[in-house]
Amino acid sequence: MSMITSLTRMWLTRSVKPFIFTDEHEESLPFADCGGLGLYVHIPFCRSICDFCPYCKQVYDEKTCGRYIDALLREIHMVGGQYPGKKTVTSLYFGGGSPAMAADRLKEITEALKEHFEITEGIGIELHPDDVKPGILRKLREAGVTKISIGIQSFLPKYQSILGRKGADRRALAQALAEVPFETVSMDFIFALPGQTFEDLKSDIETAFAAGANHVAIYPFIDFTFTPSRVRAMPKKEKQALLDRVTLWCQEQGYARDSIWTFSSDPDARYSSMTRDDFLGFGCSAATLLRESFKINTFSVDAYCRRIDEGKLPTSLTINFTLRQRMVYYLFWTAYSTKVDPKAFERFFGRPLEKMYGFELWLARLLGFAELRDGIYHMTLKGAFYYHYYENFYTLAYIDKMWGLMRKEAFPKEMRL
Ligand SMILES: C[S@@+](CC[C@H](N)C(=O)[O-])C[C@H]1O[C@@H](n2cnc3c(N)ncnc32)[C@H](O)[C@@H]1O
Ligand code: SF4
Repeated sequence: MSMITSLTRMWLTRSVKPFIFTDEHEESLPFADCGGLGLYVHIPFCRSICDFCPYCKQVYDEKTCGRYIDALLREIHMVGGQYPGKKTVTSLYFGGGSPAMAADRLKEITEALKEHFEITEGIGIELHPDDVKPGILRKLREAGVTKISIGIQSFLPKYQSILGRKGADRRALAQALAEVPFETVSMDFIFALPGQTFEDLKSDIETAFAAGANHVAIYPFIDFTFTPSRVRAMPKKEKQALLDRVTLWCQEQGYARDSIWTFSSDPDARYSSMTRDDFLGFGCSAATLLRESFKINTFSVDAYCRRIDEGKLPTSLTINFTLRQRMVYYLFWTAYSTKVDPKAFERFFGRPLEKMYGFELWLARLLGFAELRDGIYHMTLKGAFYYHYYENFYTLAYIDKMWGLMRKEAFPKEMRL
């Protein structure tokens, strides 16, 4: 399959050049002219570690977390201070790990960011079900959080035991959420676990909406090579039938599909950290994308803190995308919202979409992957499945390789994908 991903990349980027990331980087980040900029903050601590999880995280200890947050605040000022005045940004997301492990210091972090940035569309955070307690939720609200996303994975004991997680208590969740409400309450589930049926997913989604969610995300299970997990992926045909059935059922219930993997019961509920045009990332493993320049911070908490102590940015690898590479990146992530608006593409790149990718769009319509309605390309049910399906391969071809290497080496010299 890596052959196919390489060929697709060559075709879409019109180049045989692989992606070459190096350790050369600038201390100044060119975000001054970026519109539609999002902010991301990574908190790499969890109470315990799940076998299946690929993210940059380690077991929480108070001293390391304290040192890390001090370094994070310095990184925010080092980057934010490069812009005179306050830069307008869309949103801020805290991801992890389990960012609520630092609940006592989130307000300090948002205040540090607000010295340099004006956030217009709210603040989101990922939560472990164990963090959904009124006391913690109140601290989040005090820090300005408006959207929460809770990693349920499944309410059903069978899948909790496959994943090695303990069950989320739905009554306690509902009570805490009723006591401390948020504009968006999203719940994450893992899709395509071995033996998972439509009835299982339907019951999870119904339980989520009944427990106070107004948004659900069903992420396809990805078997990363570097994780010790032994959970097997579901065969393709079974996966497609399951995804189609769940999607149609959600549509019948009136839940709007606002991205490939997410459905909401309330049109104003939005939770996505994935579809920003450009973004600035702070903390270990956080990525930054500013027009064609992409960088990713070191995955090592210790190396991160040491770099910041030296007064330098914790950048590990960087790449300057060619225009075509940037276009493919843009289209890949925009398609995640199930729609591609040619006008937005042209505003971003200054070139018409149909001129750059006319043949591919024609082919996508011919194969029944997309439809053109009111000037916007909409992904069909079939298109959404294939996106789902190939996303798995791309994740394994790019993210798995990149993260696999970065977990081993804090500052690799070069990486070719
Ligand atoms: C950072 S965690 C969410 C917050 C919290 N740490 C937790 O586990 O509940 C992000 C989400 O990624 C998803 N995830 C983790 N590993 C995955 C994998 N191998 N395949 C698909 N989704 C995965 C899970 O749904 C998880 O809730
Ligand atoms: S799934 Fe969540 S709790 Fe489990 S290790 Fe990953 S980030 Fe931590």
